Amino acid sequence: MTDLVVRRLLVDMQAPMPRHWCAGDAFRTALFDALSMSFPVGEQFFIDSVRNGFKELPADLQEKFRPEVQGFVGQEATHRRLHGLYNEHLDKLGYVNAWGPRALERMKLLEGQHVRHWLAITAAYEHFTAILADFLLHHPDLLGDKDERLATLWLWHASEESEHKCTAFDLYQALGGSHEWRLKWMRRVTFFFLTDALRQTFNNLRRDGTLWRWSTWKSGFSYLFGQRGLVRLTYGPWREYFRRDFHPSQQDASASVRWLREHGDQFVPVGQAVAA
Ligand SMILES: [Fe+2]
Ligand SMILES: [Fe+2]
Repeated sequence: MTDLVVRRLLVDMQAPMPRHWCAGDAFRTALFDALSMSFPVGEQFFIDSVRNGFKELPADLQEKFRPEVQGFVGQEATHRRLHGLYNEHLDKLGYVNAWGPRALERMKLLEGQHVRHWLAITAAYEHFTAILADFLLHHPDLLGDKDERLATLWLWHASEESEHKCTAFDLYQALGGSHEWRLKWMRRVTFFFLTDALRQTFNNLRRDGTLWRWSTWKSGFSYLFGQRGLVRLTYGPWREYFRRDFHPSQQDASASVRWLREHGDQFVPVGQAVAA
């Protein structure tokens, strides 16, 4: 069981944000902004999956999972709230969130499906967030120093994603989820996550008039496939999910532990959440 602490981040999300807050880089900014746009809908889905999965557990397992589930819900609810404020700035800057509404439409297909499917989808997305989080925590300089507040927000979010990466996976296993369905959902989630992220990134770049600039594509290529490229460095950890004996705890979380230890002045722990 993981001891999940809910933290109130000490950042002012009301202050306006610069258009290209991520090191002045149009591509990286557009990609992070796209991910932020997906969070309010996506993280609500994760919360619902985990809460409903928890309710399906027998009483003894509920006792075992209760603190972790409360911590998970509290962390994701806090992320949703802050990214909601972040996204209000994006609205003001003229960006249009198409990812959130599209994901919401797609979720309607899951209504009435057993919660194991919801948990398999959540576990797959949580694997993506955990490996992206680890990448970010190992390369914090890629966030630049144009807006320290947003860099802190992303690293705090990344640290907590790494912290709670086992919760949905463990609930799926506890409810007897099969290896085959776990992989089936990971293949689908991979397709949707990558296409949604790219579509929204292009959308954001088109809106701010930087889509057809050479510098945007050059930066995009290097950020994804270069020496410290996102795709290059996360492909291996993504692939591990397909192993029969895979468990999220096998993947290194030391960068998250270190960030939380070294940045205690950036947040106030509010204990285990009561939002479940
Ligand atoms: Fe989150
Ligand atoms: Fe998460």
